Amino acid sequence: MRNNIIDLSRAVPPIFPALESSLAESIATRLSRRDAVGILRTNRPRGTEEDRRTGAQWISQRLAFTPNIDRLVVTNGTLNVLFLLLNQLVGRSGTLLAEEMTYPNLQALSGMLGFNIRGIPMDSDGLDPNAFEDLCRKISTPKVLYTIPTVQNPTAVVMPLERRVEIAKIARRYNVLIIEDDAQALMVDNPCAPIATLAPELTWYVMGLAKTVVMGMRVAFLMAPRPEDASSLMDRFGKMSMWFVAALQAELAQAFVANRVAHEATIHIRKVAASRRKIVADILDRPHLAEGPLGLHVWVPTQRDARELATEALAAGVLVRPGIQFAAQPKLTEAMQGLRVSYCETRSEDDLRRGVEILANILSR
Ligand SMILES: Cc1ncc(COP(=O)(O)O)c(C=O)c1O
Repeated sequence: MRNNIIDLSRAVPPIFPALESSLAESIATRLSRRDAVGILRTNRPRGTEEDRRTGAQWISQRLAFTPNIDRLVVTNGTLNVLFLLLNQLVGRSGTLLAEEMTYPNLQALSGMLGFNIRGIPMDSDGLDPNAFEDLCRKISTPKVLYTIPTVQNPTAVVMPLERRVEIAKIARRYNVLIIEDDAQALMVDNPCAPIATLAPELTWYVMGLAKTVVMGMRVAFLMAPRPEDASSLMDRFGKMSMWFVAALQAELAQAFVANRVAHEATIHIRKVAASRRKIVADILDRPHLAEGPLGLHVWVPTQRDARELATEALAAGVLVRPGIQFAAQPKLTEAMQGLRVSYCETRSEDDLRRGVEILANILSR
């Protein structure tokens, strides 16, 4: 709660108490075992071998294999990866394809890097393959798709396997490169195969630690299609964008993966999220919300204009995000009539309950 506002707008994970309590010890143990000053004096472009081994190990939870570390780049978060990749793969005046509602920072990146975004309509299984193919036919090279197939932002949809296979086939047919953002994938029980395993030669796969370990952890692991892609990523803009991952953050990521605090944090986050999502589903009287795959947010379609509803909610002290805030292109579509409700930011379940009750009241008017 900030200034008496109940914040249901930020899809951030709860803090795992054992992570907080082991923070000092984890980093101290790490630094005492090595030359601490050396760590701070050494460049680590793409990450040290150990950073990349940590990344390969962490993402192997999703891939069902451990990738060669030559394919890995360790960065200061997913946003950092997107800056590098969109610069390299799309570039000025290029066109990026993305779900019609998507990670809002893409808009900022498109303004800064000068590329266009074309939104692809979605249905209840995620991005529509026919619409995707249609755009692939129309748009000239280079073609890049950015997608969040697992716990999509903001719809929380988890794309089924058949749809992933279909998207991979179309991408192959039109030679479309894919950036797969798996930010919340570890929230989901047995999520189906990442697109990166269905079209490995085309896909750049990224998993950050912000959603499933701790928000302030500015570390993301990127797996490139081939080792030479991973090294060429840093050639043009690597230095300007980050040069290399912040040493202490990378060391901490190594420590938390090695001592399994990161794994336990994910388990804790899932437990809290499950209990909180049930509160949301019960109060909004939408049992299906509690049944679907887990994530840090749900999507609530609305009958009335979602922007007005969000404004009314704010006046009543509750912050939620209407669909238009996620628009890939500045154009309101039917799909955007909905609210993204995140439920792990409030300090207590009571605050959450109070906020969702206010929201339920507004939605029922
Ligand atoms: C889809 C998606 N990817 C990535 C991120 C953030 O990634 P990072 O904190 O690793 O930059 C967010 C944060 O909201 C997100 O919604």
